[in-house]
Order: sequence, then C-alpha cells, then structure tokens
Amino acid sequence: MAKKKRDEVEAEPQVLNHGNGGSHETKKKKKNKTRDKEQKKVFVDDDDISRPTVSIALPGSIIDNTQSFELATRLAGQIARAATIFRIDEVVVFDNQSESSNVIAEDACDENESGTAFLIRILKYLETPQYLRKALFPKHNSLRFVGLLPPLDAPHHLRKHEWAPYREGVTLALQPPTSATTLVDVGLSKNVVIDEAVEPGRRVTVAMGTNRQLDDEAHEVVSWWKPREEAGMYWGYKVRYAPNISSVLKQCPYKGGYDYLIGTSEHGHIVKSSELELPSFRHLLIAFGGLAGLEECIEEDKNLKGKDPREVFSTYLNICPHQGSRTIRTEEALFISLQYFQEPIDRVLNSSK
Ligand SMILES: C[S@@+](CC[C@H](N)C(=O)[O-])C[C@H]1O[C@@H](n2cnc3c(N)ncnc32)[C@H](O)[C@@H]1O
Repeated sequence: MAKKKRDEVEAEPQVLNHGNGGSHETKKKKKNKTRDKEQKKVFVDDDDISRPTVSIALPGSIIDNTQSFELATRLAGQIARAATIFRIDEVVVFDNQSESSNVIAEDACDENESGTAFLIRILKYLETPQYLRKALFPKHNSLRFVGLLPPLDAPHHLRKHEWAPYREGVTLALQPPTSATTLVDVGLSKNVVIDEAVEPGRRVTVAMGTNRQLDDEAHEVVSWWKPREEAGMYWGYKVRYAPNISSVLKQCPYKGGYDYLIGTSEHGHIVKSSELELPSFRHLLIAFGGLAGLEECIEEDKNLKGKDPREVFSTYLNICPHQGSRTIRTEEALFISLQYFQEPIDRVLNSSK
C-alpha cells in the first residue's frame, strides 16, 4: 500500500492477535485470568497433527507495493482465495527483518499498520466464517474494503440452513456459571451447548453429532484438525507471522518442523510438474519471495547471510520457464505454483495412504 494512502487511516489502537481467536480476546485476557485457572484445559494441541500438511510463506512487503487500499485489499483477497482453492493448511506472512523479533505482535496502532500486519488481518478475517466475524473482529480501518472481495466459500463457511458434522463457533457465556458448560454460537438459528467451560469470545470447532433438534444436549469441542482428519474436509488455513525467512523455517508450529522446503524463483531448476518427485513428507513448506525474490530475503536475514538459496531449501524451482513477461508477480506465482505442485503433492499423499 502506498504510504500516502496508509496515512489517511484513522488511528484505532489495537493489538494484532495471531491466533484465529480474534483480538478482543487479548483485551479480556487479564479479566479472565483468574477464572481461566479454574477452567479445565479443553483444547487438544492444535498443532499436534498426524496428517501431512502444506504451508506457504510469502512476504508482507508485497502489500506495501500496492497503490491504494482497495488494491491492497484485493491482493490480500487473491492470496486468501489461492490458499483456499489449493487447500493450504498454513499461510506464513514474513517480514525482512535482519534479526528475529516478534515486533508485529506489539503493532498497536493501525495508523501505521505495515503491509504484513494488514495482510495477516485480512487473511484471518476472510478465513473466519461470516457469522463469526462480528464477534471475533472489532471494526478496523484495514477491513473497510473487505466487503468488495469474493468470499472464500470454504466448507466451514456454512450457511444457516446447512448441516455438517462440524461447525466453527464462538463461545458466548458460561451456562450457568456453576456448571461446566458454555453456550456457543455456531451460526444456526439456535445456540448450542458444549460440555466444557470456556471463556467467552473463543473460536472453537464443535462436533455437531446427528441430533438436528439442537436441544440442550451438550456437544463436544474438538481439535481444529478433526474435520480434516475424520471427514477429509478442508477446514481453512492458520495464519502465522515470521520476522524473517529464517524464522519462517525455524518457528514451524508442527512437531518435528517442516521436513521438506521448496523455494520458488525464476532462477530455480526447471522440472516438469509431471516429473517432479517429492519425497514423502509430513510438513511441506513452499516459499515465495517479494519484488526482489527469495534471494534478497536470504541476503537480508542475518541468520542466513551469504547462503545460497539451494542450501536453504530442499529444492529451488522455476515453475514457469520461458515466461513472456520479465516478472511474474508473487500473487501470480502463487496460483501458477500451487497448480504446478498439486499433482506431485497428490502423488505423495496417495502413496502414503
Ligand atoms: C517478482 S518475483 C521476484 C523475481 C525474482 N527475480 C525471482 O527470484 O524470481 C516474486 C516471486 O514470484 C515467484 N516467481 C516469479 N517467477 C517465478 C518463476 N519463474 N518460477 C518460480 N517462482 C517464480 C518467486 O517466489 C519470486 O520470489
């Protein structure tokens, strides 16, 4: 986004929260602290997943190069659409800081919201089912054009009349305070009860069972991965911030880390998609660069300085040889690459079944 345009935004102090739980969660943290201690831990470790995952990483700087807020929003929307169309599990948005720090977590003033913070906010907003957005996302200037974007229409973006084995919901209130149950808005005509005490404002995945009457029978809260693992449903992506490319690789949220790293560049090897043999992986990461490519990201990163991209990534690929334009933009490369990788990834996933 051009700086001139960003300065027009009104200030609305707010902490950017990187979980999918919404930023007002942070404001309520203190208040709920004592009660939290009394509540039993209900959430399964969301990142302890047994099925293979695919993550993408891209720099937030691509937003800084756009000419207006509308164009920046549209670009963020395209990234969200690409991630959803290709069933991506995790989107990592990184900065080009030379040393690792998590400065963006303190990015309290949206007047100066960086391209990275803006992109993270919009990616999270779009991934959240429409009926939960009001509860999880306070009004924010960066969100003022999101209404123009085409919806993701992901399987967890269910309409009021649709029934599915799982639904995303937001916790409302303990019910009653003495009992260990909580009311949850799952976007149906009636709220449901879950059999856990959870503070209000948390996003949860609820197993809906088979009883469509929505009586007071308590429902189970499950891991966000469960719909994928049990029902093979695509259930959206998580969004993560990384201060630089080395942190993208090192701060992997999954047990054991990423075990195969793909870098993309016009300077990479040329291999036909049908001939690309990926090894069996648990957690695959595909990285994209910004205006000056991944080479610059590596060069600017103190932890990787002087390294060749071929040392950093398991493989470094040119997915669009003989390009007619001098440059393929990151958002274009995203669509081209994810289509290119679809078959090789499927071959690995099908062979490990
Ligand atoms: C504007 S380009 C950067 C140009 C740079 N010379 C490069 O390294 O490809 C932005 C990003 O799009 C992706 N990209 C562009 N052309 C590509 C190609 N032919 N093959 C694979 N990825 C490409 C890369 O991730 C690159 O970092």
